[in-house]
Amino acid sequence: MTREELISVLEDSSPENAAALYAKAYEVKKKTVGESVYLRGLVEISNICRKNCLYCGIRRDNREAGRYELTDKEVLDAAEFAFKEGYGSLVIQGGERTDRMFIDRITAMLVEIKRRWPLGITLSLGEQSMDVYQEWFEAGAHRYLLRIESSTKELYEKIHPADAVHSYETRVEALVSLRRCGYQVGTGVMIGLPFQTAAHLADDLLFFKRLDIDMCGMGPYLEHSQTPLYEYRGLIPDKMSRLELSLKMVALLRLLMPDINIAATTAMQAIVQDGRERAIMAGANVLMPNLTSADVREEYQIYQNKPGVGEDAAISSSRTEQRLKDMKIPIGYGRWGDSQHFGKR
Ligand code: 5AD
Ligand code: SF4
Repeated sequence: MTREELISVLEDSSPENAAALYAKAYEVKKKTVGESVYLRGLVEISNICRKNCLYCGIRRDNREAGRYELTDKEVLDAAEFAFKEGYGSLVIQGGERTDRMFIDRITAMLVEIKRRWPLGITLSLGEQSMDVYQEWFEAGAHRYLLRIESSTKELYEKIHPADAVHSYETRVEALVSLRRCGYQVGTGVMIGLPFQTAAHLADDLLFFKRLDIDMCGMGPYLEHSQTPLYEYRGLIPDKMSRLELSLKMVALLRLLMPDINIAATTAMQAIVQDGRERAIMAGANVLMPNLTSADVREEYQIYQNKPGVGEDAAISSSRTEQRLKDMKIPIGYGRWGDSQHFGKR
């Protein structure tokens, strides 16, 4: 598909065309990676972050966000839960920190988890040096998620502060470092940002293809009143349009890169209760039930009204699994569910 074709699909407002696109993407998924959905237990290890992204509720300067860090025991309990549930993989996500104490703690935790359970481990802990990425890879992580947020430098710079900690170039370099270290590399963007056009989104899809990514997580941008970008909330499409646009992005990416892993993200569920299931019907094949301890979930509000606050791991996971079962979607229990795309490289 050309850039122009992608733009015209993204701009098309016909619900019939969208439904046909989702069905086509589902067929492609079925023929390539299969119908199974892989579950990954998600642990939000800490909301302490050195960054100040203009859209994010846990940005450094948001004094209203109470900060927390899970204990080793809480993380290990979540890992054990994921393993017992048959999830095969764990995702450790958190705010960006580059202090040695934090780095060492992650390394030790990776070693301990791998010693106890044969889980696949994905990290999502922001930009780090090549050495740190290497250290974590050797300790047992084998996938890494780092969203580019927008592949257009001008738009990236509109949604991040203008300083050296928030450099577009550094972010792209981090993605290259991750690949060099041997990780399965995942990236993604937010959809429906102020100042964002269909052309930006088409370019994001082409960026994923050019980078030859293994995994992708995308979702609607959701405004947060304690962030600077909130001021521009008048410029964004309504919630349902942001959801439809996100579903189209998932479907188009499945057509462009048939054998990668694509996540059905929580932000979609924040708009409609079955948002993630809709993403699965549009070509996504990975879902991440939240296993973060219930008492701190409220603090990990990158956007407001995040679903699952107040639930514990058992509730979030059983609800998610039950919904998939009701939809007769097979779950890839007990397998890591690696990106086939990576396997072929
Ligand atoms: N709305 C939607 N997604 C957000 N993220 C951060 N803030 C928001 C928001 N307000 C996403 C970013 C980040 C991921 C962890 O969460 O894409 O990479
Ligand atoms: Fe930190 Fe990530 Fe939020 Fe940016 S988006 S402020 S890096 S948690």
